[in-house]
Amino acid sequence: MRSWRVLVLSAVVTLVVIGLAVIVGVMGQRASGGPRESDYLAGSTDSCVTCHRRASPGIVDQYGRSAMAAAKVTCQDCHAVPADYPGAEQHEGATILASPTPARCQRCHEREVAQFNQSRHSVPAFVAYAGTAALTPPFRKLYDAIPEGQPTDKVRNALFAIEGKDITDFACVKCHEVGEPRLDGSVGKCQKCHLRHEFSISQARKPETCNNCHIGPDHPHWEIYHESPHGVMYETQGSQWNWKARPDTLTPVDMPAPTCATCHMSGFAGASTTHDVGDRLTWFLFSEVSERRPAWESNRARMQTVCFSCHNSKFITSYYAAADTATEQVNKWVRDSQALVAPLRDKGLLTKEPFDEPIEFEQFELWHHWGRTAKFGVWMQGPDYVQWHGAYEITKSMVELKDMVHQKLAAQPSEEKPKEAP
Ligand code: HEC
Ligand code: HEC
Ligand code: HEC
Ligand code: HEC
Ligand code: HEC
Ligand code: HEC
Ligand code: HEC
Ligand code: HEC
Repeated sequence: MRSWRVLVLSAVVTLVVIGLAVIVGVMGQRASGGPRESDYLAGSTDSCVTCHRRASPGIVDQYGRSAMAAAKVTCQDCHAVPADYPGAEQHEGATILASPTPARCQRCHEREVAQFNQSRHSVPAFVAYAGTAALTPPFRKLYDAIPEGQPTDKVRNALFAIEGKDITDFACVKCHEVGEPRLDGSVGKCQKCHLRHEFSISQARKPETCNNCHIGPDHPHWEIYHESPHGVMYETQGSQWNWKARPDTLTPVDMPAPTCATCHMSGFAGASTTHDVGDRLTWFLFSEVSERRPAWESNRARMQTVCFSCHNSKFITSYYAAADTATEQVNKWVRDSQALVAPLRDKGLLTKEPFDEPIEFEQFELWHHWGRTAKFGVWMQGPDYVQWHGAYEITKSMVELKDMVHQKLAAQPSEEKPKEAP
């Protein structure tokens, strides 16, 4: 009897010791990832906080360690709204918005929201799948006021209608909702980059943030960045960089190589922070045939300000000149492919419906996948994407396209065939 008790006791002791060892191990691992912010909500008696420590402890813990909690911004500042607010719901004696909109952020972050509204992350991202017909007049006004909002409707992608809502809600919409019109008249979802509830700039500055959407065969910005020297530096040294530097104070001392955000958004060595991601761009690279943007010269100057903080000006200006030429070369290939298929359209040998014939897929991929990838690779230093996922695929695709066009023309009734020279 006694020895049985001792056995149970020692088994319990052993389990406790193992348990403690596991806990200490986990804490050690966390510590090696850097110290956590302290919990600025510790001791809070606010009812949202105390009840949600039980209802959703993860959210309260994350928010408690955020810069906004440190600045005494409360749950109510974002969530609590008047009862007649569009989308408001009753909740534990309060009226709340389950998913706070940019109109909520705007009260404290006017500049960021205004810049965001001017960008293609705003209404244009929504129009890209839903079309301008889906816009109510106020959103249409916002859309028309975006200087670089065009060209959009023209290149809208018919796959959205073909695939149907059951699929596209998980596809197009998940990426493009970054610019979704909201019930209260504001636009977009800041939380697509500033993941709730930390809303941390350190996180938003890292390229993984953009990887949520800027990935895949038609816009492999993430993959290209990874193979660029900038991405290699990030991968190999990024853990030592100063991610928390205050906005508008970042310099190459904080990060000796740029991330997506550094080049496109951050205040960096003289360029000021912007939420207009088109603010530094020269070309409409995503277009079938790329054209320069309306304000390309000043945009270019702002991007180059970022480059100049790490590179000498001759290096950058000659790089830009070569990249302009490469962009024109891809434009030429795409125009050639259009000219190749034009006779089929002229002779009515293609149906009116998009994406119902193999040749349409071939031509679409030539520009939408390979052409764009080659251009992106040129501009963001990804040689494998310029070559094997870009120029090579275009070359191959052109041969296949030629073959398909000839077969279609040859299959015509003989009287329609062009007369052969005597
Ligand atoms: C008495 C407890 C309690 C209080 C007080 C409380 N909540 Fe909640 N809240 C909950 C529970 C429980 C849920 C549902 C959780 C679930 O479904 O998993 C919830 C859900 C939510 C949701 C999600 C709603 C949705 O429709 O998706 C939000 C946002 C929220 N609470 C915010 C707040 C805010 C802001 C306050 C303070 C004004 C607050 N809560 C006060 C218990 C509480
Ligand atoms: C800076 C603004 C902001 C603050 C402050 C804030 N929230 Fe939120 N909260 C959001 C946003 C934005 C979302 C919507 C997230 C989404 O769409 O995925 C959200 C979503 C939620 C949800 C639903 C999440 C889910 O996945 O179901 C709950 C619950 C919630 N918040 C509770 C709280 C509580 C409790 C606090 C205070 C401790 C708080 N929030 C503070 C902006 C905020
Ligand atoms: C009531 C005012 C208020 C509201 C509402 C508000 N913020 Fe903030 N926000 C602040 C303050 C204050 C800071 C801290 C600024 C500082 O530390 O200098 C801040 C900081 C931030 C930061 C920088 C965080 C960091 O790591 O330094 C981000 C990102 C941010 N807010 C996003 C949002 C978003 C997105 C919303 C809406 C969903 C929002 N805020 C709503 C007041 C607000
Ligand atoms: C993985 C995220 C993701 C998915 C899924 C996605 N897109 Fe996009 N889309 C993007 C990104 C990122 C760009 C920007 C490319 C650039 O600017 O170089 C873009 C660009 C576009 C453009 C060109 C820009 C414009 O406004 O004209 C159109 C049109 C478009 N997408 C439509 C769609 C449609 C329709 C679907 C679904 C059939 C879809 N997208 C699915 C992320 C996505
Ligand atoms: C070294 C700076 C740099 C880095 C890092 C960088 N980019 Fe770029 N990006 C550029 C330049 C330069 C262009 C071409 C701009 C132009 O048109 O002049 C460009 C083009 C783009 C475009 C094409 C816009 C269009 O017209 O279709 C997108 C989208 C983009 N970058 C997103 C990203 C993402 C996402 C990352 C990170 C995974 C990233 N960039 C990393 C400098 C950079
Ligand atoms: C495309 C991703 C992205 C989206 C969408 C986005 N942000 Fe940001 N935001 C960033 C990045 C990256 C930074 C850090 C900039 C830097 O390094 O200087 C930032 C910084 C901020 C800051 C701190 C800036 C400062 O000067 O103190 C605030 C506040 C902020 N964002 C608010 C918002 C609000 C509000 C929205 C929605 C309207 C929003 N952001 C949407 C990426 C994003
Ligand atoms: C939730 C998805 C999503 C995330 C996250 C996202 N983007 Fe985008 N981005 C898009 C879409 C969609 C477009 C294309 C909008 C259009 O032209 O219709 C786009 C376009 C762009 C463009 C081209 C703008 C122009 O004027 O043509 C740049 C540059 C860009 N994003 C940079 C970034 C950077 C940098 C980050 C990360 C800090 C980021 N994006 C995060 C979805 C996203
Ligand atoms: C924060 C510093 C920093 C910024 C900003 C920066 N770069 Fe770089 N860049 C580097 C470093 C570091 C390397 C790696 C140098 C090496 O190869 O030894 C590099 C390498 C390059 C290379 C060489 C690529 C190769 O394959 O050899 C090019 C081209 C380049 N950068 C272009 C740009 C352009 C264009 C911009 C602005 C849009 C820019 N960089 C902004 C730090 C920076």
